[in-house]
Amino acid sequence: MMAYSLNNFCDDTRATLRESDDSAGREKIRRALEQLLTDQAFCAEHAGADNHTGMKQIFEDASLNFCVLAYNMRAPRISPPHDHGSSWAIYGQVAEYTDMTIWRTVEDGEEKLEQVRSFRLAPGQAGLFDTKEIHSIDYPAGSKFIRVTGVDMSKEDRRVFDPATGEVKVVSSVGTGSQR
Ligand SMILES: [Fe+2]
Repeated sequence: MMAYSLNNFCDDTRATLRESDDSAGREKIRRALEQLLTDQAFCAEHAGADNHTGMKQIFEDASLNFCVLAYNMRAPRISPPHDHGSSWAIYGQVAEYTDMTIWRTVEDGEEKLEQVRSFRLAPGQAGLFDTKEIHSIDYPAGSKFIRVTGVDMSKEDRRVFDPATGEVKVVSSVGTGSQR
């Protein structure tokens, strides 16, 4: 297999977003991320056995502001349902797995959340959450993944939901939000 580096991925992502910053373009970026996950040098450098623990930004585009982060998670975690504000997000799994659940809000006297679908991301697979798509993630200890977002999430407000009540909070992403 031809090597496909982080630089190749970022060049292709920039070109895709310039041409079509929409669902079709993001699906193309999701497939490109799966190609990047096949690059063993990339995985070893950013999500190998001896990498940083926690999250680390490994690229931010100076012109279009999309970001690539590498997550090497030591502890298991279940996130609450959330979105990424006005940004889309693509998660690509390197090691272990992440269970993804998509939610939607329903009006039933008051706003509630209901599950739309769930799927497991195995190593080599990437999943897209489009703008405003509510999702939660659940991963075991040792999960390693790459996340690409359309903007720097540390500067973006997003919605976080209580799955039981559907209650929504708008939170700024500084701090724990960056774990999601
Ligand atoms: Fe997320």
